[in-house]
Amino acid sequence: MVQDHEDQLILEIDSNVEYIFEYSIDHWQTIHKPISKLSSSNLKQFLDLVDDNLHQYYEVHHGKLWKDDKRDEMQEDGLIYVWYEFKGELVGFISFKLVDDEEGIDGSVFYLYEIQIKEKFRGQKIGTKLMKNLENLVIYIRTKSNDDKILKINQLQQLSGIALTVFSQNKVAFEWYIRLGFKLSPSSPRDKVLRNGKVLKPDYYILYKSC
Ligand SMILES: CC(C)(COP(=O)(O)OP(=O)(O)OC[C@H]1O[C@@H](n2cnc3c(N)ncnc32)[C@H](O)[C@@H]1OP(=O)(O)O)[C@@H](O)C(=O)NCCC(=O)NCCS
Repeated sequence: MVQDHEDQLILEIDSNVEYIFEYSIDHWQTIHKPISKLSSSNLKQFLDLVDDNLHQYYEVHHGKLWKDDKRDEMQEDGLIYVWYEFKGELVGFISFKLVDDEEGIDGSVFYLYEIQIKEKFRGQKIGTKLMKNLENLVIYIRTKSNDDKILKINQLQQLSGIALTVFSQNKVAFEWYIRLGFKLSPSSPRDKVLRNGKVLKPDYYILYKSC
């Protein structure tokens, strides 16, 4: 019963992704799949992109075997993947899932697990587009589930925004999220200022944006 409810939620969320993320430019394709339907070759491509983009941070914080844990995390139940391809080549992807017990945040959120753009496609607002679309998805699903008598599902009616985790050393991403309007979540680890004025940063921050 509980599993049926979870499955229904994931299918409902995924069924709205195409409408919000579709973007019709020649040779571009938007693809989306819940983790239960993702092929192992797609998963490998995504894991390899995380490796290319962020291995330096993961190695420091999670050791040489970080990729094994990452592979498990990337297959967690409930995750939905959305990615862009250009002429069949992966450009970038996001993965997210509905979380309804995020500490310090009322309602439920889409927790962003990954946003990864291949280096040669960066700086073209593709990442911004993915984030804005995710915000639009929050608003669209919340509104729809409040309006639609059949679809009144608590977790969807109470969707309040997006949460995510970012390494404090990943300054490019951290500052980018702040420019997009994210703020430290109430439950986020924070900087500590020592008596000599030195600032000790935590390994990661949790950011939140209400939509
Ligand atoms: C963070 C990330 C997703 C941003 O994606 P993107 O498509 O490059 O994002 P945008 O083009 O919308 O914005 C990138 C910003 O960096 C600047 N930028 C310019 N050229 C750039 C380049 N070659 N590479 C990266 N950033 C560049 C842009 O000017 C822009 O700044 P702005 O917000 O002031 O306009 C992307 O850099 C990335 O995949 N990084 C590695 C993975 C990562 O850190 N993910 C986040 C984990 S929490």
